[in-house]
Amino acid sequence: MTAPADIPVLRFESIDSTNEEALRRLAAGERTPLWIIADEQTRGRGRSGRQWQSLKGNLYATLIVEPRVSAAVATQLSFVAALSVHDAVAAHLPADDLPRLRLKWPNDVMLGGAKLAGILLESLASPKRKGLAVILGIGINVAHAPLEMERAVASLGLEPSALPQVFISLATALSEWLGRWDEGRGFAVIREAWLDRALALNDPISVSLNGSAIRGRFTGVDAAGALQLETEPGVVITVTAGDIYPDALV
Ligand code: BTN
Repeated sequence: MTAPADIPVLRFESIDSTNEEALRRLAAGERTPLWIIADEQTRGRGRSGRQWQSLKGNLYATLIVEPRVSAAVATQLSFVAALSVHDAVAAHLPADDLPRLRLKWPNDVMLGGAKLAGILLESLASPKRKGLAVILGIGINVAHAPLEMERAVASLGLEPSALPQVFISLATALSEWLGRWDEGRGFAVIREAWLDRALALNDPISVSLNGSAIRGRFTGVDAAGALQLETEPGVVITVTAGDIYPDALV
């Protein structure tokens, strides 16, 4: 099986985690770029050490790339991935739902305020070559929304038979957005496109970080992709990690 742009695809019926497999493939010196997809994961990983429930029916996919950029520039790839997931799922939603499809900083894809997809980006020194390897792990709730206590979760509500088409949409969109990103030279375009699709831009929000909350107005993201938060008129701070919430909910 190949993805657009002739990127090979390794498919597993069941695996611990497609991101873990990516690390193993890199350590073994496998050629990149390479897609790894699985029907289910037994130890799916989410952000901040969380588990990613990975039963059959949803999409679990990881792309390994080795861009010639610094680790700081590589963090921009989470915006590239979020735009790609946005465009991929938009192609499988009724037109009426599209205004409800938004990107939540740093890299969640939300439908009607509920999480539809997540992205786990990991970068490391390439084990076999000079430079950086980046692992873009993407989970999209295609057939079902796993029950979660702390947050609302959405799905595309499609049959599992739609998975190959959703994967092709994702791989096509990611190849296109990677081309526009152009190893960081096109980040201005990425940033604008991401802001166009952003959830809560210009709204009051809270950012929770290690148990404490900072309140402010979400005014944008800077050139490094950090969140800009206006905490009082004229005072803008940048936040590089955390989870954002509409202010009323915190
Ligand atoms: C998040 O917490 O929002 C990120 C979730 C990322 C899940 C995907 S599923 C494919 C890849 N393999 C993993 O173990 N995690 C990522």
